Amino acid sequence: MKSIRVGTSRPYDVHIERGSLKNSGKLISDIINSKKAVIVTDDTVDILYSNTLAESLEKSGISFDIFVFPHGEQSKNLHTLGDIFDFLCEKGITRSDFLIALGGGVVGDITGFAAASYLRGIDFVQIPTTLLSQVDSSVGGKTAVDIPGGKNLVGAFKQPALVICDSDTLKTLPEEELACGMAEVIKYGMIRDKNLFDLCESHNIENIHEVMDEIVSTCVDIKRQVVENDEFDKGERMILNFGHTLGHAIEGWHNYTDYTHGMGVAAGMCMITRRLCSSNMAERLEKCVEAYRLPISTEAPMSELLPFCTKDKKCESSSINYIICPEIGMSEIVKAATTDFFRLMEG
Ligand code: NAD
Ligand code: GLY
Repeated sequence: MKSIRVGTSRPYDVHIERGSLKNSGKLISDIINSKKAVIVTDDTVDILYSNTLAESLEKSGISFDIFVFPHGEQSKNLHTLGDIFDFLCEKGITRSDFLIALGGGVVGDITGFAAASYLRGIDFVQIPTTLLSQVDSSVGGKTAVDIPGGKNLVGAFKQPALVICDSDTLKTLPEEELACGMAEVIKYGMIRDKNLFDLCESHNIENIHEVMDEIVSTCVDIKRQVVENDEFDKGERMILNFGHTLGHAIEGWHNYTDYTHGMGVAAGMCMITRRLCSSNMAERLEKCVEAYRLPISTEAPMSELLPFCTKDKKCESSSINYIICPEIGMSEIVKAATTDFFRLMEG
C-alpha cells in the first residue's frame, strides 16, 4: 500500500493498493463524515465494479444511489451534466453529502465538475479505473465537460477529497485503453524521471501489469510535484503537455474517431523528439512507444496538422508553447511564434 499526500489548496491523499476497491468504504469513512453518497459511473464500469464498491460502502454504513450514463467521450457534455444535477436533486443530496466518480477520465471529469458546481460545491471521491485516469486525470483537480466548440472548454478546478487507485481494476481494460495510459506513463518518464522511462523500456504491453503499482505511484508522485508547484496551470504544469500539441492536432485530423488520445500523444512525442532532439534519443523513445503498440508518427501531412495546433488551448493567438525533452527525464517549455513552430516541424 502506498499513500501519496497531494499538498494543493485542499490537500488530499491518493491511496494506491491492489484490491483497495473492496476497502473503499472504510477508506472513505476515515475522511468523510457524511453517510450519504451518489456513485457516478458509466455502463461498462457499472457492470464490472459497482457491486464491489456497493458492498464496501454498505459495510461502512454509507447509503448510496447510482447514476449510470453510456460510456465514452460523447457522454462528457452539458446534457449528461444536467441529468446528473437532476438526479442529485431527486435524491435529496445536500452540501454535506458527496459524490463518488467510479470510472475513467470521462466519469472523473464530469463528476468532478458536477461536484464543483452543484450547490456551489460538494465533496467528491475519485476511484479511477483506467490507467490514464489513475496516473493523470484523477489527480490535480482539473474537471470539465466538452461543448460543441471544443473538448474540456467548460470546467473548474476542484480537488477531490480522496483518490483510490486499485490497479487490479486495470486488468479488465482493453489493450487499446492500457496503451493509451502507457503513452502518458512514458510521457512522465520523458519529462521527469529517467528510471521510470527505463522501467517502461524494459517492459511491454504484455507484462507491464507486473509492475503496475510502481508505475502508478511513480506517476502520481510526479503529477503531485507538478500540481503542487502550479495548481492553476499558469506555468510549470504545461510540461504535462509534452507530445500533446501535435497529439491533439493528429486526433483532430482524424476527427477524434479512429485515433485514440494515447496514440496522438505517442506520435506527438516521437515526432517532436525526432525533429528537435538527438537521433539516439528519438530511437529509444520510438522503440519504447512501439513496445506498447503505439504509433511513432502519422500519415497526416504536417501542413494539414499545423492548423489544428492553433486551435489548441496551449496556443495564444500568434504564439505557441511546446515542450521538448533535451534529455530523457528533463523537460523545457519553449514559447515560439506559431509560424516558427510550423517551420521547425515542417523541416
Ligand atoms: P474513458 O473514461 O472514456 O474510459 C475509456 C473506456 O474504458 C470507456 O469505455 C470505459 O467504459 C472503459 N473502462 C473504464 N475502466 C475500465 C476497466 N477497469 N475495465 C474495462 N473497461 C473500462 O477514458 P479515459 O482514457 O480514462 O479518460 C479520457 C478522458 O479523460 C478524456 O475526456 C480527457 O479529456 C480526460 N482527461 C482529463 C484530465 C484531467 O486532468 N482532468 C487529464 C487527462 C485526460
Ligand atoms: N493532464 C494535464 C494536467 O492535469 O494539467
